[in-house]
Amino acid sequence: MSAVKLAPSILGADFAHLGQQVVEAEQGGADRIHVDVMDGHFVPNLSMGAEIVQSLRRVTRLPLEIHLMVSDPDFFLDEFVAAGSDSFLVHWEGNNNLHRTVQRIRTLGKRAGVAINPATSGAVLEEIVPDLNQVLVMTVNPGFGHQQFLRTTLPKIERVRELIERLEPGCEVGVDGGIDTTTAPLVVRAGATVLVAGSAIFGDPDGVTTAMKRFRAALDRTQDDTEPAELSARQRSQ
Ligand code: DX5
Ligand code: ZN
Repeated sequence: MSAVKLAPSILGADFAHLGQQVVEAEQGGADRIHVDVMDGHFVPNLSMGAEIVQSLRRVTRLPLEIHLMVSDPDFFLDEFVAAGSDSFLVHWEGNNNLHRTVQRIRTLGKRAGVAINPATSGAVLEEIVPDLNQVLVMTVNPGFGHQQFLRTTLPKIERVRELIERLEPGCEVGVDGGIDTTTAPLVVRAGATVLVAGSAIFGDPDGVTTAMKRFRAALDRTQDDTEPAELSARQRSQ
């Protein structure tokens, strides 16, 4: 069983068959479901609200992870909690009171994560990471699915991994945008432990079940490759 977690993003789903596709993702071994919330202001696109979470809560037992790409995340927390959300990812960008937002999420009993855009340095996480369950390195500019993975984010993922090992080793490192079976091995080698993928899972012409199998196979191959290297690195340091 792979230690890397998969979080299919429903932004890439066929909304006419959303429930069915999420059930397929769960049966295919998804670890959580990623829900992208956009307000047309923080990002230039509109997506979905808490009603979708309420509906999904009835069809899956998987944790529902809410990625808030909105100008005022605090305003929406209560209604998303009432709808059945399990965790929140809020952006560092545009939030003058990030610590307060994170504390509110924790007070509501939910897991808290902070997302950073491609142009934002991972160093901004230094003071907030001890309060987080997850960080999310955006590997595209947020707002749309089906975008091309930005390879320039790979060294940043490595730096974020180092920062987390130093300050909060239990914190997960997620990546979001352009993740498929080609880019998954790259981000996992760089230190990602949670992969968000929309179009590569829900848009696979062979269906969600086949897409999940392909992802798992790619991750298993990556771990077979990386584990001996990690082991020898640890042995060298002893
Ligand atoms: C982008 C969203 C992503 C999106 C990823 O702003 O945060 O979660 O669904 O889509 P793909 O996997 O198609 O790049
Ligand atoms: Zn997202």
